[in-house]
Amino acid sequence: MKIPSAKIVFNEQDKKEILKTIEESLTTGQLTLGKNGTAFEEEFRKTTQTQFAVAVNSGTSSLEIILRALNLQGKEVLVPTNTFFATAAAVWHAGAVAKFVDMNSNSLSFDMDILTRNVSKKTGAVIIVHIGGIVTPDMPELVNFCNESGIYLIEDAAHAHGSTLNGKAAGGFGVASSFSFYPTKVITAGEGGMIATNDPRIVEEAKKYRDQGKASFLENKHDRLGYNWRMSELHAAVGKVHLRHLSEFVEERRKIAKKYDEGLKRIKGIKSLPVDSGCRSNYYKYIAILEKGIDRAQLKKALREKHNVSLSGEVYELPCHLQPIFQNGYKKETFPNAEEFCRRHICLPVYQGMTDAEVGQVLLSLETELK
Ligand SMILES: Cc1ncc(COP(=O)(O)O)c(C=O)c1O
Repeated sequence: MKIPSAKIVFNEQDKKEILKTIEESLTTGQLTLGKNGTAFEEEFRKTTQTQFAVAVNSGTSSLEIILRALNLQGKEVLVPTNTFFATAAAVWHAGAVAKFVDMNSNSLSFDMDILTRNVSKKTGAVIIVHIGGIVTPDMPELVNFCNESGIYLIEDAAHAHGSTLNGKAAGGFGVASSFSFYPTKVITAGEGGMIATNDPRIVEEAKKYRDQGKASFLENKHDRLGYNWRMSELHAAVGKVHLRHLSEFVEERRKIAKKYDEGLKRIKGIKSLPVDSGCRSNYYKYIAILEKGIDRAQLKKALREKHNVSLSGEVYELPCHLQPIFQNGYKKETFPNAEEFCRRHICLPVYQGMTDAEVGQVLLSLETELK
């Protein structure tokens, strides 16, 4: 059997409904900022337990809009170095300064000691990233710390649709949160992003920013340096239908993760990443750590060529401070935990409809190669 690294699943009923909605949009001519977008926002907001949601065209633009809405130009924004390029790039695009922070090896999130050492008078915000869908148990401490220090807490929840910590949904901890609907995400709209917040001022700002900074929808007066960050009605039609499956998808991914947790116990050279019992991860990624000295590239090649098992890309292979575009600004600082994690982790395939036999094949291939 060929095991892909990921699969994007729309059932027949979903496809029919999406096509019907798109046909309606094509007939009425309402192709952007219409009722599909509004319905998607309303349904999405509920999953984050927040009062408002604003749909945009990507998870990168949702981050930039939040940063702009909070007026962070010229301020430092603390960002984990073990994140996707877009988290840091959005900070620079919004006119702020991204300051990278090393991670805690257990939670994959900020190490609170390291984070607090990096805070200064210049700090305007912290962006926490729920890597792989894991919400750190340090979240309440981080929320308190940010509140007490007068720093905004922003969540990059691009990986965390439906994840919770002690029953509270990812996306509802900070002043605002950003989600992505890129095709590989647990819920997709083809492309797209969403801002979730309880702050009506951020909603107002976000609606202006996504539509070229227009003071109002019908007038051509621009009082913000906005952009075309609108979500089309066609994308919203896809997202709102896929979103209905969120609980079922998370449940299924968690079952697969449990099987990996059990299976990896008997395999040498690899350990599953422990997830705190308070966190209900959506397992956007199933992360495992290889023993020091194991050649990840060789292992992935052997799994693919000898066992038909494709592993997805890492989260992330190269920390941001080592990316060519950012490298020069961070030469003096060290980020040993992130570098070690980026070097040693792998992500096992998790997708809707993955069978026991497929999980078994992944485990057997690892057992054979890591003997
Ligand atoms: C952590 C993180 N932040 C932001 C983004 C950007 O999302 P998008 O691709 O929708 O712009 C991604 C996308 O994969 C991501 O993984």
